[in-house]
Amino acid sequence: MNIATPVFAGNWKLNNGPTATRAFFRDFLPRLPEPASGTVVICPPALSLTAAVTAIGDRRDIVLGVQNIHWQPEGAFTGEISAPLARDTGASLVLVGHSERRHIFGETDEESRSKVRAALDAGMIAVLCVGETLVEREAGRAFQMVEQQLAVGMESVTSGELDHFLVAYEPVWAIGTGRTASPADASDMHGQIRDRLEATFGPSAADIPILYGGSVKPDNAGDLLRAPGIGGLLIGGASLDPAGFADICSLAP
Ligand code: PGA
Repeated sequence: MNIATPVFAGNWKLNNGPTATRAFFRDFLPRLPEPASGTVVICPPALSLTAAVTAIGDRRDIVLGVQNIHWQPEGAFTGEISAPLARDTGASLVLVGHSERRHIFGETDEESRSKVRAALDAGMIAVLCVGETLVEREAGRAFQMVEQQLAVGMESVTSGELDHFLVAYEPVWAIGTGRTASPADASDMHGQIRDRLEATFGPSAADIPILYGGSVKPDNAGDLLRAPGIGGLLIGGASLDPAGFADICSLAP
């Protein structure tokens, strides 16, 4: 599957149960031209996935994803969900290594690596999320941190799997804070990430979409999207509003 850009990915986090999910799509779908331009992704909570599958019906232009998986396909892992289970429920994409997973739940780079592998093994698209904290940025170590997360997280990805692999750059200090990286700063980091991807995978890495995330809203999304190297947006809070998210999705050229 080749992923059309720009990618507009909504990460609902721990919001929108099945009832709210049905209400969201009732409002959102009529606002989204069919087929949507680029790729529209929604990652609801796993328990709302079935409601989302039913709500989108035959709209194959919307990709559903999950926000996290366990790295094992099955077994005695109470409370977890796996890639095959998510896929069977209707998800075709997985967010891996989101900063909330890393900073609240202590997910390590090595765990992210295993989760990327598990997603790809299940035939899903893996979105590896990377980003530095404010302290790291102020210490001049932003790219060093991002590079470390990238290097380990994508260690098991082969060049034949790049059509199922995306990167999302989300500076931790910009997530849910109302502070956004400037388009120039985001673009600069995206360029460094692209160089790292190409150093690892060669020229075929030129097509890996690199998304920006962190306080993206309808009023800053256009400038970010126009910045060189930004292949899409990963949107938390603003993806909960059907009208606002549809406005963002309409920014595809
Ligand atoms: P935010 O979240 O848009 O609410 O800052 C982005 C994310 O965490 O993916």
